[in-house]
Amino acid sequence: LDNGLMRIPPMGWLAWERFRCNTDCENDPKNCISEALFRDMADRLAEDGWRELGYVYVNIDDCWASKNRDAQGRLQPDPKRHYFDNDMPTSSSVSLTCLVVVKGFPSGIAKLARYVHDRGLKLGIYGDLGTYTCGGYPGTTLDKIETDAQTFAEWEVDMLKLDGCYSNSTDQEQGYPLMSRALNATGRPIGYSCSWPAYQGGLPPKINYTLLGEICNLWRNYGDIEDSWDSILSIVDWFTENQEILQPAAGPGRWNDPDMLVIGNFGLSMDQSRSQMALWAIMAAPLFMSNDLRTLNSGARAILQNKAVIAINQDPLGIQGKRLIKENNDIEVFWRPLSNKASALVFFSRRTDMPFRYLTSLKALNYTAGSYMVYDVFMEKPMPTLKDTTQFVVSINPSGVVMWFVCGVLCSTSCLPCVPLHN
Ligand code: DGJ
Repeated sequence: LDNGLMRIPPMGWLAWERFRCNTDCENDPKNCISEALFRDMADRLAEDGWRELGYVYVNIDDCWASKNRDAQGRLQPDPKRHYFDNDMPTSSSVSLTCLVVVKGFPSGIAKLARYVHDRGLKLGIYGDLGTYTCGGYPGTTLDKIETDAQTFAEWEVDMLKLDGCYSNSTDQEQGYPLMSRALNATGRPIGYSCSWPAYQGGLPPKINYTLLGEICNLWRNYGDIEDSWDSILSIVDWFTENQEILQPAAGPGRWNDPDMLVIGNFGLSMDQSRSQMALWAIMAAPLFMSNDLRTLNSGARAILQNKAVIAINQDPLGIQGKRLIKENNDIEVFWRPLSNKASALVFFSRRTDMPFRYLTSLKALNYTAGSYMVYDVFMEKPMPTLKDTTQFVVSINPSGVVMWFVCGVLCSTSCLPCVPLHN
């Protein structure tokens, strides 16, 4: 979508995969969907080095709204979510449980947006084109599109994810373009994420990627990610099987979205986490983490904050990468062209036995004659310069990757990808 937004893949944090529809603020105040959760995440993004790397969106997902619209028919945040605060000071003999009347979003979304903006971040919100959201909250039926776009703009929201539960393909054909126009008509720049393709199988003829690129900044093509390696593999498989269709659809302002990064949760090993990060970067995917930034371990943090992998993802040319090679031995090679004649390679092992020594040459990977400088993204160090014909070996861990940033010797003096620094 040509609204000047998201010329490089958007980055930030999104609540869904990690926090789902947890509305139990009474028993689980720290993890329920409430303004406190989003303020906590905004604090972490601003204070722990994320914002400067580009992670600027703090995005609300489902289950934020009240079950009823207000008297004017507008969406409103849940006003009835009270909780018991057990963090109150306790004396040695009595332990006190104090009822603190705190609503899910007592201060309202506009105030939350201000909080987020004050920290140099952006706020995303969630809606659903249909009678209900997937979680059963009020949806945005066709007659409510303008009202809701207006409400989001008044709250000074910066992004909308429009889900597609409880709507049929005719509603979607009308509704997704209508919301695009309604957002534009508000005059506020609002990034627009469409779940439309994910509800229609993600492929032509049902899905028209040219049209999507005109009306949405990003779109979910496929099913929901879960916190498991199986889930990552099924997503990667679907995207690579259909890469001839999906790859040309992406570009500045319009991105395929394979869904959130689940790095830092419970389901992935360190190697698998590096694999998700590397493959998402190669796919020019939006990088929305869904994890708990308050308790993230240092390994996950290092992967998510790796400057070289971020620079590859955020390359200004915005060309999505592809799988080049699928070997019979379960090794796959992905490639993405980058600006300044640089490129990125991912050597990916689907094996489950032991580190595999993969022998190849740049020439075998379609590189033209010449010398190339190589930077190993996760080892964080330059490698010896290679001629296109030089044979080399990379050792790839089971369900892991080796990722390279490659540049032609002639076009640069050092081979270091640079991250566009924000603020
Ligand atoms: C389906 C979407 O694909 C998920 O990402 C999430 O937004 C849920 N709906 C929320 O109900």
